[in-house]
Order: sequence, then structure tokens, then C-alpha cells
Amino acid sequence: MLYILAVGCCVLLLAKVVLSRLRAPLPPGPKGTLWHGNLHQLPWVEPWKVFTEWTKSYGPLIYLHAYGRNILIVHGFGPAADLMDKRALLYARRPKWSMAALTGRSQNIAFMDHNERQRKARALMQSALNPRAQREWGPVLEAETTKLIQNLVISPEDYKRHVKWYLASFINRFTFGFEIDDAHQKMADELSAHTQQALRPGRWVVDIVPALIYLPEWLPGMGFKRWASEAKAKFNSFVDVPFQAIKRSVMSGSDDRCMVANMLREIMQGESKFDEPALISAASSIYTAATDTTAAILLNFLLLITTHPEVQQKAYAEIREIVGSDRLPHLADQASLPYINAVMKEVHRFNPVTPMIPRSPVQDDNYNDYRIPQDTWVMFNIWSIAHDSTLYADPDVFRPERHFASSKAEPEMDPREFTFGFGKRICPGSALANAQIYLVISTILSVFEVRPPLNDEGREEMPPIAYTSTFVSFPKPFSCRFVPRNNGLAQQLALMI
Ligand code: HEM
Repeated sequence: MLYILAVGCCVLLLAKVVLSRLRAPLPPGPKGTLWHGNLHQLPWVEPWKVFTEWTKSYGPLIYLHAYGRNILIVHGFGPAADLMDKRALLYARRPKWSMAALTGRSQNIAFMDHNERQRKARALMQSALNPRAQREWGPVLEAETTKLIQNLVISPEDYKRHVKWYLASFINRFTFGFEIDDAHQKMADELSAHTQQALRPGRWVVDIVPALIYLPEWLPGMGFKRWASEAKAKFNSFVDVPFQAIKRSVMSGSDDRCMVANMLREIMQGESKFDEPALISAASSIYTAATDTTAAILLNFLLLITTHPEVQQKAYAEIREIVGSDRLPHLADQASLPYINAVMKEVHRFNPVTPMIPRSPVQDDNYNDYRIPQDTWVMFNIWSIAHDSTLYADPDVFRPERHFASSKAEPEMDPREFTFGFGKRICPGSALANAQIYLVISTILSVFEVRPPLNDEGREEMPPIAYTSTFVSFPKPFSCRFVPRNNGLAQQLALMI
């Protein structure tokens, strides 16, 4: 009997060794230590640039091990599309993000598993934002953009606050139908800082040891849990209070018009394919997903247009020719403003708002003869695609002209094919983002010349072009001046206030 057991064990062991030899290897990567893996090698400053450098040694798939997790950094448009588009279901999940759950973001579309509720919430958001629905929200967006310009006329030095206010104000009118005030904006700023903090890789011990999530808050070292539960309470009331108020109002027969009221009415009358949990997820996600991303790209536009006066001149010349100089551009003008559209694309490309997109395969996968284990934290390096010299000539140069055909070449790839993501999790807000970015760019340029700040000697000094290393990448703080153009538009807008 013992003999049979011993032979059985040997056969099993041998089978395991043979199987592991037969299995595809993990992708290459820097050699880590036995205890820390690659933790000490992880770059923290603009990691997307460092990983792009590493591809010279390891190729497009770079495997790392840190925080007890398998991490894979994927480079190139081809591999990103192969995995996220062609194997869409396999890569439809986000990695497990302990701090996102602890801060109450777990019902947020961006962090949820790709389950029934998530699919419905995405579809609901898309149906509220699609080009047909734009007939309803387009005029509100135009009115809010005019207010942004008026605020810039009154206090141009506060441009950063005005941009954030504008985004929050539109999203609130669209989602809940109410106007915001200072207290609301302060809370919104705090919540967005919480989200950025919660998502910072390496910032939290619970991201290294996920089991800590189950320990009580009062234990020493559990400060992160107390911080997270305060952040969660604030986040929940930020969404729940207006949601419940609208629900009461709809039930009492009001004819309020906003995303939540319109959808609730249809759900209550049994005329909707969506349900209340999906609506709550959509309403609670839209603010976080829409404001930071669009703020980052609008501020990036201001930085790049300040530092590239020749681009600004061409963009304004186009506006003058097509729109004239006695009114602001409308959404309907967009198709006739190709240079403005090229500026938009180039701003997307130059510093993608989300430089790395996180996903996680739901089961073991093989790609290009390498093994990608289930639950690997896969980061798609979007910045690297945007600066790939096989797609973009002189990728580090800001040049909207690259988006036009020339006698020698076709237009270069529209970066929005990857800056809004891929497959099952592609950004459901891209229609709104495109409309909003277009309107802000064209209206600011028609009213102001955006110029560099003055130094102590009164001379213009170009701000440095530099970005943060956060999950949503912003330009580092910089200054610019909004000088009214001599077409009288700024004066007209001031008189309307
Ligand atoms: C310049 C503006 C924006 C950029 C660059 C952007 C980019 C992205 C990216 C890269 C993703 C991840 C996609 C993926 O995993 O493949 C994403 C997800 C998402 N975005 Fe946007 N976004 C922007 C604006 C907006 C707006 C205005 C909204 C809503 C009105 C929005 C709502 C969302 C939501 C809900 C998700 C999560 C989708 C999911 O996980 O299924 N975004 N966005």
C-alpha cells in the first residue's frame, strides 16, 4: 500500500514539473528580489515614461511582481486592441482596488465588476449622453460655457477655479437638475482629492495586504480605514441626498427634467429597460468620472496653447473666418472647424488624461507565447501609444497639423481611438467630453488671447510643460493670462452679467 502511495506521489510530482515546463513562460521583466519582488524598482514619477524606456530591454510586455501581485505593463496599440477589444470579455474586469471599495466607490461604474448592474448602468449613461439626447443637454452646455467665459472676463486669474466650477455646474444640472453653490463645490473638490488619494498606487498598506480590510478600525495601524470611512460617508451623502430629493419630487408628480428625474419617471411607469440600482450607479459615477478627466484636458489645453502661440494664431484665424467675430461658436459649428478639431486631438495625444488603463483577466490567458495569470494587474500604457514614433512623427512635438492628410502622408491616428479606452469598458462619456472640450476651446479662443504670465521685469515668460504622476494626469500648476481680443466679445459678455 505504502509503495503504491509513494509511486502515486512521484507520478503527480513529475506531472506537475512536466506541466509547468509545458506552460508558457511569464513575460520578461527586471529581476526582482526574493522578498520584495520588483517593489524597489517601481518608478513613481511619470511611470508611463519609465516603462516606455524599459521596452527597449524587455519588449512590449513587461512583467513585474510587487505587493504580492502579478503586474503586467502592456505597450503598443496592437497588443492593447488584441487584449481589450478582441478578448473583450476576458479583460472586462478592473483589478481589485481595496481603497476604492473602502471609500464607497464600489458601486461606481468605473470600479465595479463587469456584471449585469454595471452593464445596465453604462447603457443608461450612454443613452442619456448620446447624440440624440444632445438635443436636450446641448443648449444647457452652451449656456454654461458662456457663463464660464463671463467668469473669465471678471476674474481671469481664477481660471482654474472657474474651469472646475463650470464642469461641476453642468454635471449637476445634467444629472440632478440643480445649480451648485460654494459649499457644494468645496465638497466636490474634497471628494475628487479623496478619489485621487485612494487610487494612488503604493500609498496604502491595504493595497499590499488586502486581508487588512477585514480588521477593525480601532487597531493601531488601521488609520487608513478611519480615513476611508469618513471619505465614504461624505461621498454617499453627496450622491444620496440629491437622489432622494429628486425621487420624492418625481413621486409627487413634478415635471423636473434631468437625467435622474427623466429615468426615474420611466422606471416608475414601467417604460424603461433600466432599473433604480443601475440609475444610482450611473448618478454616483458621473461626477467622479466626468469632472477630473475633463478638467485635466482643459487645463492641458490652456498650458499647450499658452506655450504654442503659432497654433493659437491659426486656430483663431479659422474661428474668425468660419464663425466671424461677433458671436461665440456653437456646437453646430464644430464640423466646420477642422483646425480646432485637430487641436483637440493633439491635446488628447500630447499628455493622455489617463496615462495607464487598469484591467485584470478573469482567467489565465496566453498572449504572444507568454502566460498572463488570472487576476494579474494589467496596466495598458496609453501614454506610450500616444508617443509611439511608428504612429506619430516627432511624438514629443505638439503639432495639430499631424491630424491632416498631406501630399506625403495620411493623417496620423486619431488618439481618441485609445485615450477613451477600449472594449467593454470604453468611456461611456466620450460624446459629452468631445462636445464640452470643443466648446471650451473654441469659445475661449474667440474671446481671449491666452498669453504667458509676466515675470518680475514685466516680460512674458513661458511656463514649463510638466505633468503630475497621478492616476488622472494634470498639468503641474502654471499661470497664463487671458487678454480680451479687440473684437468686443469680452465687453459684450461683461454687459450681459
Ligand atoms: C477628456 C475627458 C475624458 C477622458 C479622456 C476619459 C477617459 C476614460 C478612460 C480612459 C476610461 C477607462 C476606459 C477603459 O477601461 O477602457 C474611462 C472610463 C469611464 N469614463 Fe471617461 N473620460 C473622459 C470623460 C468622461 C465623461 C465626461 C464621463 C461622463 C459623463 C465619463 C464617464 C466614464 C465612466 C463612467 C467610465 C467607467 C467605464 C467602465 O469602467 O465601464 N468620462 N474614461
